[in-house]
Amino acid sequence: MLILGIETSCDETAVAIVEDGRKVIVNNVISQIELHKEFGGVKPSVAKLAHEEVIDDLVENTLKTVNISFKDLDAISVTLGPGLVISLLVGFKTAKNLALLYKKKLIGVNHLFGHICSNYLESTLEPPFVCLLVSGGHTQIINVKTYTEYEALGSTLDDACGEAFDKIGRLLGLPYPGGPNLEKLAYSGNPNVFKLPEAKVSVYDFSFSGLKTAVLRLVEKLPEDYNKADLAASFQENVTNTLVKKIIFASEKLNAPKIVIAGGVTANQTLRKKLQELSPVPVFMPNLKYCTDNGAMIASAGYFLKDTIQELETMDVFAKDSSSVKLKASSRL
Ligand code: KG4
Ligand code: ZN
Repeated sequence: MLILGIETSCDETAVAIVEDGRKVIVNNVISQIELHKEFGGVKPSVAKLAHEEVIDDLVENTLKTVNISFKDLDAISVTLGPGLVISLLVGFKTAKNLALLYKKKLIGVNHLFGHICSNYLESTLEPPFVCLLVSGGHTQIINVKTYTEYEALGSTLDDACGEAFDKIGRLLGLPYPGGPNLEKLAYSGNPNVFKLPEAKVSVYDFSFSGLKTAVLRLVEKLPEDYNKADLAASFQENVTNTLVKKIIFASEKLNAPKIVIAGGVTANQTLRKKLQELSPVPVFMPNLKYCTDNGAMIASAGYFLKDTIQELETMDVFAKDSSSVKLKASSRL
């Protein structure tokens, strides 16, 4: 079964074709990082225009390069939310028009569910497992019972993990996006120089705003020529220790046979290595090219949702913002 996946929830325009939820036939991503750099973060109006500018050609070229035509596709799957509504609408309108034109099934996908499915790409992973989802907008621990049954056990009470990386990156004077640039800087730093606090929240929840304030206060007290690499490394050490500790605790409590991680922050090598070293159960993580936003994970998600009408329920587990609820409603063709 061939599914075309379209993702435009933030600053990547992404289109992919995946066979049977796992085999990636083609995966194209156009990043808008260069466009948003001057704003130090994603500017929604710029993101929308940039998506609009490239999406039609990207869809056409994605099919062309692998010699697949619309008649060969079984369904079109598209991210409905959560994300920037004006960006989401660009992908949604494109997918809806294509589905109507070529009489294809349209499958609406929750972006976070998509991130979980990035772990099925080019892998034999099967549920059940416990999942740590760490992206720029969300941080959750999810009990994944089957391909379509989920329970969110806890989440961040304030900033998302990727957001914390981005904010501290900005504080250190690094370009957007902070996460990967902070990781690069941290390579040359000593993670034991600065002792930073750990948030006191319940076992499955997270909080990063106290840590952010602590880093801010620390920087105010330090001399101007303080070692930024040491601070980056100490911050990364603190965050990854918390993530690893909590997901291992959850796996033990739930007696989960596997730990899975998903979302942009899982590109972080310190997180990947630490979890592999310390986890008592097998760890699954997305291939590096599927950690950050991509169309392949949305196509995979479409495959696992294709026979259910419960994509709407799945979304309810994750979606807190009403904007994605509105989009959900309009997805019913
Ligand atoms: O999943 P994603 O591409 O978009 C959202 O759904 O939010 O995640 C993007 C987030 C950004 O906050 C980015 O800074 C972070 O993932 N990120 C990283 C790394 N690569 C991306 N954070 C830490 N280390 C990385 N190597
Ligand atoms: Zn994402």
